[in-house]
Order: sequence, then structure tokens, then C-alpha cells
Amino acid sequence: MTNFVQTFVSPAKLNLFLEVKGRRDDGFHELETVMVRTSLCDEIKVATGTDNNSSLTVTGNSGLASRVPTDASNLILQAADAFQAAAGFNTGWNIQLQKVIPIEAGLAGGSSNAATTLLALNQLTGQPLQKDGLHEIAASLGSDINFFVEDCTAAVCTGRGEEVDSFQMTKTFYFVVARPSKGNSTPAVFRQLTHQSELNSAADVVSALQSGSIEDLEAAIFNRLLVPACELNGDMADLIKQMEATCQRPVAMSGSGSTCFVCCEDEADAAETLQNVLSLQPQFAMAVQTV
Ligand code: C5P
Repeated sequence: MTNFVQTFVSPAKLNLFLEVKGRRDDGFHELETVMVRTSLCDEIKVATGTDNNSSLTVTGNSGLASRVPTDASNLILQAADAFQAAAGFNTGWNIQLQKVIPIEAGLAGGSSNAATTLLALNQLTGQPLQKDGLHEIAASLGSDINFFVEDCTAAVCTGRGEEVDSFQMTKTFYFVVARPSKGNSTPAVFRQLTHQSELNSAADVVSALQSGSIEDLEAAIFNRLLVPACELNGDMADLIKQMEATCQRPVAMSGSGSTCFVCCEDEADAAETLQNVLSLQPQFAMAVQTV
């Protein structure tokens, strides 16, 4: 039996603002997005392996865990291999992922898992890599991983998402998130996006998060991918309409979806709102907060 040495949390993010500024020559899109780290987390356990290769097992809700690949396509193993190469270690790792964050959800679960793997392996091996080295690996593996490597609660992310400028918030924010049974494919949502001429700025969302005003945050929340995602996922479009009617407040989408969310005043409001949302979407709805 494997003796896992330590457990690390791997949090989900929410995008409170996302503007697409154009398509780049490399096929990615230039973004301006505001991300916050949330209390919704996977768990990653790590043990030293017995040979050069790292291995991955996935536990948790069987419907979810069975959909997570355990081969080299998983970002956790790609992160472990890249860390091994950069830090000059020969021994692989046995890694166990307890999956809670839904996939194809716009919550960056896979990216967070990769970042947590990098931070965990660096910690367990006595910090052989500096933050810059971890960021370099993160950017080579995906667009959302750097936010989690930065290890901050809130940030404006630019470039294809990998340039992270963190900022302080004055308080904890509460949300209720819900996801329809059908997920969204990020590349498909980007392909569905049509050109737009007027671009929005993240400034109002950043000031609302800094001042702590829920009303200002609600008014400023924006996601350019909402319209194309609704065109591709009718279940999500329906869920948004039902949540708006039931919760009597605007409903936003995280990343490329299909997770939707509403802002809440405080923990009590989030608990009450969750009951209403659970009546619409009992499979996946929960209250989360910034951490
Ligand atoms: O980098 P990541 O693996 O998160 O991206 C998944 C897909 O989302 C990319 O292959 C690309 O199709 C799309 N994407 C994009 N522009 C970005 C980020 C992601 O077009 N800035």
C-alpha cells in the first residue's frame, strides 16, 4: 500500500470578468480576465515512487472520477514530468487525486491540479525551483495554471491567461455555483465567438472587489464567452434563466462554462440561495467563497 506523505488542496477558480481581445497567430486568444480562488477543492496526495515514472490514481464520485484520464494526457502527470526534468530528479511520484471539481465546467479543475502538483513536488523536494521556474512550466502546459501557481486569492490575468497580476481584496465574497449536466468544450466555445468591436475593461470588477461592494460587483461582472456558450449549450441557457427567476439577481458564467453563478451578500444569504438553486439543479449546486 502506498504511504502518501502529504495532502494538498487544489482549488477551483471563478472568472468574474472575461474579455476576449482578439485571436492570436498561435490560435489562442488574447484575454483580460479576473479570477478568484474558491473554497471548492480537489485533493492531491503525493508519495515517492519506486521507479522513474510517475503514476496517477483518481478517487471520488465515480461518475466524475471515471471521466478523468490517468494517462499522459492528464496535466498532473505532465506537470510531474516537467518538474522532474527541470529540477533534475530521477524518481517518479505516485499521485492520488480526489476529484470533486466538475470537468468541462469553466472552474479550471485540471489546471489547478497541475499547479498544485508543481507546488507540492517543489515543497516536498526542498524548493529546488524558484517561482519563475514554476511559472515557466505552468505556461508551457496551459493558460490557467499560472494563476494557481501564483497562490493568490484574486488576480487580473492577461496574455492567453498566463500573465498574472494579483491584487488584495478587503473581504470574503460568497457565491452559489451550479452546473447543468452537460459541460462545455473550451475550444468549441472560442470557435463560436464572433468578432466584437467594443471591448470591456476589468477595472470596475477590480474596484468592486477592492471596495467590497456586492452591488458594484454584480453590475460589473461580464463574460464575453457567455453568448457563444449559451448558443452551444441550451441546458445551460435554460439554467441561467431559471436561476435568474428563482434568485432574483443576475446570473454569470465562469470561464467558458458550463458553471453559472450568482453573487451573495454573506454566508447566510449563500445558504438560503443554495436551497433555491438546489431545487433547480440538485446534481451540482453549492455555496463557495473566496479563499
Ligand atoms: O490553455 P488551455 O489548455 O487552458 O486552453 C484550452 C483551449 O482553450 C485551447 O486549446 C484553445 O482552444 C482555447 N483557448 C484560447 N485562448 C486562450 C485560452 C484557451 O483559444 N487564451
